[in-house]
Amino acid sequence: MRIAVLMGGTSTERDVSLASGRAVARWLQKAGHQVIEIDAAFGANRQDNISPHVRGSIQRRPPKPDELSAYGHRRVFESVHDLITRKIDAVFIALHGVPGEDGTVQGMLELAGLPYTGSGVLGSTLAMDKIISKKLFEKDGIQTPAWFSLTADVGAGHQEIQSRIESTFGFPVVVKPNNQGSTVGLSIVHQPSDLEAAFREVRSYSEEILLEQYIAGRELTVSLLGKEALPVIEIHPEHGVYDYECKYTKGKSTYTVPAELSEKVLLQIQKMGVKAFESLKCDGFGRVDIRLDENNEPFCLEVNTIPGMTETSLVPKAAMAQGISPPDLVDEILRLALERHNLGSDQGEPWHSDYSIH
Ligand SMILES: Nc1ncnc2c1ncn2[C@@H]1O[C@H](COP(=O)(O)OP(=O)(O)O)[C@@H](O)[C@H]1O
Ligand SMILES: [Mg+2]
Repeated sequence: MRIAVLMGGTSTERDVSLASGRAVARWLQKAGHQVIEIDAAFGANRQDNISPHVRGSIQRRPPKPDELSAYGHRRVFESVHDLITRKIDAVFIALHGVPGEDGTVQGMLELAGLPYTGSGVLGSTLAMDKIISKKLFEKDGIQTPAWFSLTADVGAGHQEIQSRIESTFGFPVVVKPNNQGSTVGLSIVHQPSDLEAAFREVRSYSEEILLEQYIAGRELTVSLLGKEALPVIEIHPEHGVYDYECKYTKGKSTYTVPAELSEKVLLQIQKMGVKAFESLKCDGFGRVDIRLDENNEPFCLEVNTIPGMTETSLVPKAAMAQGISPPDLVDEILRLALERHNLGSDQGEPWHSDYSIH
């Protein structure tokens, strides 16, 4: 098949997405497909030279939102619009963050009648919103850390917020943006005097702020392929928190797969993963992040609908532990995408047009 791999884009996870996209493209080729790599920051101009400050490899820190603002969502729209006009059979979406993982790109491809990998519009949108996700987890009996939310215009360090933290779950508290990934904008606040700095950081990323009970314990993740949970991975990040640097710098984290836990707990974690995936109407593949407290109680943090897909990423690691090679993994993700597309009610012909954007 002729497959377009959509990567890069204009989110703060751009660098990671390029790494995922390039790995996916290589594996798809190994699986026998013809691949077109598309950086969604280029827009319709395929020859565009990307500005040097929008980098192409993963650095110690993610790019700042203002480094990317020139590229905006419009570029992503133009890239997807342009790819729709090409002769391709399916799109592998390797974009992380917003826009791309949030249902917008999925919506364009849905309307164009082109099969695409991963979750559909609704699942992508729900999982990108951590607050909505937590409301659904609670409704569906999936344990998640205690929380409350604030909008970005609320002043930091206010006595009111501090009192609310103290009367609910106390310190340490995790302060995170509602719709970012890769631990971008997230702080673990141990004392009230550090709240202000955490708010200053989080505000540059999101209008909505999530405050969450800190779960001391172990860091686990469970990958989903179709409706099946793959082996559970335990992550040992050098910094304690699985931050951007520990996620993407070789040697900054070690992994145990399958995690060293009893069969009973492993099964419980896998069931939680499947349930969280279903709760948010996710599809195809993904990864569910879980904290395990000192009493072996699991707490669901979030669902990632387009998790990292580099050779050192967690989903390929979990697949390998199940005997699925990376080329077989991407091929299966593609097969699931085509299967869902063929089940859809209104496919028609894929949309090809000469229409150009001015
Ligand atoms: N409630 C929490 N308790 C303990 N650690 C947390 C908590 N929430 C987040 N973390 C740490 O921060 C990391 C990123 O948080 P997560 O909610 O998965 O957001 P994202 O990965 O989208 O940035 C987690 O993998 C974990 O290491
Ligand atoms: Mg996470």
